[in-house]
Amino acid sequence: MEHLSRTDSTNNYASRQLMTKRLPEGIVYSTSAQEKGRGQVNQHWESEPGKNITMSVVLYPEFVPILSQFLISKAVALAVHDFVSAYVPDAHIKWPNDIYVEKKKIAGTLIENSLRGGVISSSIVGIGLNINQRLFVSDAPNPVSLSLLTDQQFDLDDCMEELCDRLDDWYMQLKTGEIQKINEAYERRLFRMDEWAPYRAGEEEFEGKITGVDEIGRLVIEKRDGTKQQFHLKEVEFMI
Ligand code: BTN
Repeated sequence: MEHLSRTDSTNNYASRQLMTKRLPEGIVYSTSAQEKGRGQVNQHWESEPGKNITMSVVLYPEFVPILSQFLISKAVALAVHDFVSAYVPDAHIKWPNDIYVEKKKIAGTLIENSLRGGVISSSIVGIGLNINQRLFVSDAPNPVSLSLLTDQQFDLDDCMEELCDRLDDWYMQLKTGEIQKINEAYERRLFRMDEWAPYRAGEEEFEGKITGVDEIGRLVIEKRDGTKQQFHLKEVEFMI
């Protein structure tokens, strides 16, 4: 574990370190002040200095077939979900790998895989988990923290240790080929799984029911006419 007093983004920092040497698997870079935190699809990740977990873990999941790389996202989402669920009920995984509690986002992950020689040569797993922050500058994406949900303050080092233990557990499941267990747990915890709800895809608004996630990580939604459609991130919006 390497704790940085400040950095642009822990994912960027980990990536720069990876370019200089082979890092031990599982090394964690965390920071108190992330100045240019990155979210999915070029979004910014807001985190008040000293209040939350902003960290990146370096993994070498060479055993995961490239076409199944979404399994890494699932394992990470399950770990963060385990952590959050230890403190609050009703936490869900919102596809692809956000953690929501009561329609509010408490955590997001940014997983950046490098592919070389037909395998996933390394994976930088970035996790932003809101712990003690109580005021958020931006309303999007409806942020919340553990402190707001429980009215308590948490020790960040303890939280990070617990989260790393959960990550170790689920990464071990992945390593030992417990794919069915991962898939089932992920779908069981998925927000709006098997529920009719409104969605928007481009101009179209429709009612649909999530029936799962396909092997490459696309969300599968059944429509009222019985047809099923697969969506990549940003192709579909949950109307909450
Ligand atoms: C998202 O929900 O859009 C993903 C957010 C990921 C944020 C984390 S914070 C640590 C790591 N470093 C980054 O720049 N981003 C991730």
